[in-house]
Amino acid sequence: MSLQAIRYKRGELQLLNQLLLPDRTEYEDIKTVEDGWRAIKEMKVRGAPAIANAGCLSVGVEVANRDFRSAEELVKFVTDSLAYLVTARPTAVNMNEASIRFSKEISQLSKDGHSSKEKIKDWFLQAIKDMLDKDVEDNRTMGRYGAEHILQNVGERRVTVLTHCNTGSLATAGYGTALGVIRALNEKKAIEEVYCTETRPYNQGARLTAYELVHDNIPATLITDSMAAALMRTKGISAVVVGADRVVANGDTANKIGTYQLAILAHHHGVPFYIAAPSTTCDLSLRTGEEIVIEERSQKEMTHIGGTRLAPEGIKCWNPAFDVTPHDLITGGIITEKGVFPPEKLETALQQINGQDR
Ligand code: MRU
Repeated sequence: MSLQAIRYKRGELQLLNQLLLPDRTEYEDIKTVEDGWRAIKEMKVRGAPAIANAGCLSVGVEVANRDFRSAEELVKFVTDSLAYLVTARPTAVNMNEASIRFSKEISQLSKDGHSSKEKIKDWFLQAIKDMLDKDVEDNRTMGRYGAEHILQNVGERRVTVLTHCNTGSLATAGYGTALGVIRALNEKKAIEEVYCTETRPYNQGARLTAYELVHDNIPATLITDSMAAALMRTKGISAVVVGADRVVANGDTANKIGTYQLAILAHHHGVPFYIAAPSTTCDLSLRTGEEIVIEERSQKEMTHIGGTRLAPEGIKCWNPAFDVTPHDLITGGIITEKGVFPPEKLETALQQINGQDR
């Protein structure tokens, strides 16, 4: 059975409460846009692609179950709700990308004048279902491209890979981005070992990635974030593969806090460093990583683990949820569903491909 963060059918949405993993597997009903916003904010669902899918589907359940007086009222509800969902978490771009794309398309449909509210509703519900399916398809393509590239680049038949945070089925509609590449390597019997960091402060690596790796029987070892340098010095890491929350035009990449230090370590040890992310995570409207808004989260994520206080009361905390890896440290390449690109060629490559697709 494959792991599923999102369960959806027309008019019904359930999200796996990832705060309870790995101990408990509980799905929560999402009946409104507000429920969706809260689930994203509280990180019951997390990971850039899963946030976008869950957000759009929460609009979908309300659209499916509500009656609108007119096409205009429906379009306004959809566009306002999508814009509201973008405010739940600022760094991952996928929800913003989906909001802009769907708002433009649905407004165009209603402007054409001959679309009834029923037709617009059907169009939107189909569009969000297609987005969910496409995410899995793109992840499989990314996995294939990434696995081939790594094996060729490293020149070995079996590889030892380090990953960070959670980028698997739980962070996407299924299969995963960086973890999708690892799954694809494993399907080729090319995994010697996967090392996953625990990923403080929120422990996505220990709670979620380790859970996915065990679930799939992939040979894997958990390390704390502070062990990465020693690991690279002693264990012969073939490549580092991580996901992304936002990749900008020059290839600078925001991802889970701790990614930047792994890229510096990889550079120092001559280990190729890869980002795996769908093209919907690429934000060509920003030129450099300095323009990316980095979310800062509650101090409690650092002072407590599982409700137990570790740090003394009165200590100040700085808790940025993401950091930016400069493009020149992304030495392996950026793996997308459209191909694997050196960071400095990403913008031109995507513009060319998108131009051809139109
Ligand atoms: O704070 P999170 O858990 O939402 O952060 C997730 C990450 O940083 C992932 O690496 C990223 O979103 C890619 S998910 C396929």
